[in-house]
Amino acid sequence: MNIEAVVFDAYGTLYDVQSVAEITEEAFPGYGEMITQIWRIKQLEYSWLRSMMQRYRDFSVITGESLAYTLRILGLQYDDAIFERIMEKYLHLDPYPDVMPTLAALKDRKLAILSNGSPGMLNALVANSGLDRMLDATISVDAKKVFKPSPDAYSLIETTLGVKSADVLFVSSNPWDACGAKAFGLNVAWIERVTPEAMALDCVESELVAPLTMFKAIGSQMDELGVEPDHRIRALSELPKIVAIHES
Ligand code: LAC
Repeated sequence: MNIEAVVFDAYGTLYDVQSVAEITEEAFPGYGEMITQIWRIKQLEYSWLRSMMQRYRDFSVITGESLAYTLRILGLQYDDAIFERIMEKYLHLDPYPDVMPTLAALKDRKLAILSNGSPGMLNALVANSGLDRMLDATISVDAKKVFKPSPDAYSLIETTLGVKSADVLFVSSNPWDACGAKAFGLNVAWIERVTPEAMALDCVESELVAPLTMFKAIGSQMDELGVEPDHRIRALSELPKIVAIHES
C-alpha cells in the first residue's frame, strides 16, 4: 500500500487557533483567554448541531455566530469594528513552525487540506500564510454542505484528488476528527499538539485551572468513540517516516 496523498485538517493542525488570543485580549482585556476557549468550543458545537439539524451555514457564518454568542454570554459590549477585527484574525492564523518544512519534505506526494472552513476563509488563510504554493488542493466541506466528521465530508478527498481512501494519510490534531476520518476508512495520524506531559505541567504550575488548561486537556487525549488512529505523532516532521512505513 502506498500513501499517494497526505491530507491535513486546517484549524488546530496546520494553524494555531489559539493565536486569536492576542487579539481577543487586546479587544477585551482580562477576557482574552476565556473568549478564545468558549469561541472555539461553540464554533465546533454549532458545526455539529447545524449538520444534525440539516441547517447548514458555512463556517464563516458559524465562526461569527459563535463569537457573537461568546461575547454575549460574557456580557461584553462591542461594535462592528471590534467584531470584524477579531474575525479577521481567522484569515491570518499562525501556521505551526513544523508546517512548511514538513510540506516541503513530502512534496513528492499530493498534499491537501480538508477543512470545515468555508472556501473564502481557507483560500485567504492559505494565501496569507504562503501555503497555497505548497498544496495541490484546499478542500472545503462546503461542497457537501455538511461538516466533518460526516462521512460525506471525508469523501471529498477521493472525488477531488482522485486518490482512494486506502492510499491517503489524513492528519489531524482534533481527536474527534481523527476518529471521524478513521471511521470513514482513511489512514490516520493524530498529532498531539498538546502532549500529556505539557498538560501535566500546566496543572502543576497553575494555582487555578485556567480556561486554556481545559482546552489543552480536551486536546491531549483521544476521544472515546470506538476507533483509534493508526499513528500518534508529536510533530509533523514524523510524517515522512510514516509514509515510508506504508511502502515497506
Ligand atoms: C477544520 C477544523 C474544524 O476542519 O479543525 O479545519
